[in-house]
Amino acid sequence: MSLPLFNPFDPQYVADPHAYYARLRQTAPVQRAVLPDGQVVWLLTRYDDVEAAFTDPRMVKDPRNACSPEQLARMPARPQSTRYTRTNMLSRDAPDHTRLRRLVSKAFTPRMVEQLRPRVQAIADALLDAVAARGEMNVIDEYAFPLPITVIAEMLGVPVADRDQFREWSDAILTAIPPQPATPVAVAALEGLAQYLEGRFEERRRAPAEDLITGLVQAEEAGDKLSKDELQGMAYVLLVAGYETTANLIGSGVLALLQHPNQLAKLWADPTLMPSAVEELLRFTSPVKTSTLRYAAADVSVGDVVIPKGEMVLVIITAANRDPARFPSPDTLDITRSDNKHLAFGHGVHYCLGAPLARLEGEIAFGTLLRRLPDLRLGVASETLTWRPSFGVRGLERLPVRF
Ligand code: HEM
Repeated sequence: MSLPLFNPFDPQYVADPHAYYARLRQTAPVQRAVLPDGQVVWLLTRYDDVEAAFTDPRMVKDPRNACSPEQLARMPARPQSTRYTRTNMLSRDAPDHTRLRRLVSKAFTPRMVEQLRPRVQAIADALLDAVAARGEMNVIDEYAFPLPITVIAEMLGVPVADRDQFREWSDAILTAIPPQPATPVAVAALEGLAQYLEGRFEERRRAPAEDLITGLVQAEEAGDKLSKDELQGMAYVLLVAGYETTANLIGSGVLALLQHPNQLAKLWADPTLMPSAVEELLRFTSPVKTSTLRYAAADVSVGDVVIPKGEMVLVIITAANRDPARFPSPDTLDITRSDNKHLAFGHGVHYCLGAPLARLEGEIAFGTLLRRLPDLRLGVASETLTWRPSFGVRGLERLPVRF
């Protein structure tokens, strides 16, 4: 029997992945499917299965730890310049994953991140100062993206003035994260970013500063902690994961609030609900739709299905976060929801390194918007809004608002 096609670029799916996943969760929660380029992948959509896959040590990131030589040989070849998508912590297993994560984890602890609060607040205020008199803005381009890009650029120590260039590169790079094929545009973007980062590394070797790049360059020079390719992979993953995700939390979160005026009114009336609202917006919008690829390192039983060793697995965060077996009325936005153990940041050893930062940025972004623009409303009809076609992340193309 031929396998069903999973096409993450199908316009119907891009417009409403929830409907697609609800069907899958009910009828085939452990589904073997084929991608448009012929690769076979397992899709997990139930909360319990997704959570288990995130913590199962037999679900590994590096195919060399799971696949037979024949399976490895059948994988599509990827150009050498895409190697940074494989040398970063998100694509590695212990002990390399542990070593890489440890090098930067201190900078992202809740305590360290809390110290950034005044700076994140100042960035949010400056972005709104720039549009306040106009009475309208495109939330995506003028707020949701520039806020986290500025924060992560400053943490890393790369010039914020280059943020439009990062965005252009990362847009292209996201289209080539495996299992997607590496297109010439994505390869050019990866090469452009790598060359750019190399320039920043050189600067910090000459003139160290108080930033993450300086720390990483010094770790690379120490010899045994970080190779040259890993240095590139690290800077790349922090930069791209540091804003593509949070920008979509802010954009989709603002839209969700504007589409649920009763929830928005509640939040306006009681700003102490903000932390719980951010958790609910993370669950409801799932800025990262699917995890990065995992490979079964052994035959793994999921329910009554066996995923054979060496096969690719995608855990679908969006589907888990809307699973009625875990969340009562999962399609309802309820900013007071308790017991909200969503999987928007993943789970287990690869649990999002930037979660405390993303939460802080979300709180400040929503809080500042509501406080400063009290009559915020959509600038266009909801039905005209479109979503960026993307394999792994879900975000709006634009979000015009008036105030
Ligand atoms: C709302 C915003 C964010 C969301 C929804 C999100 C989501 C995720 C998810 C789902 C994973 C796990 C993927 C997997 O296991 O396959 C992850 C990992 C990661 N995230 Fe985030 N993320 C966000 C913000 C950030 C920020 C601000 C940073 C800052 C640098 C960041 C850096 C990372 C890194 C480095 C990893 C890899 C961790 C590891 O492999 O150990 N993320 N994120």
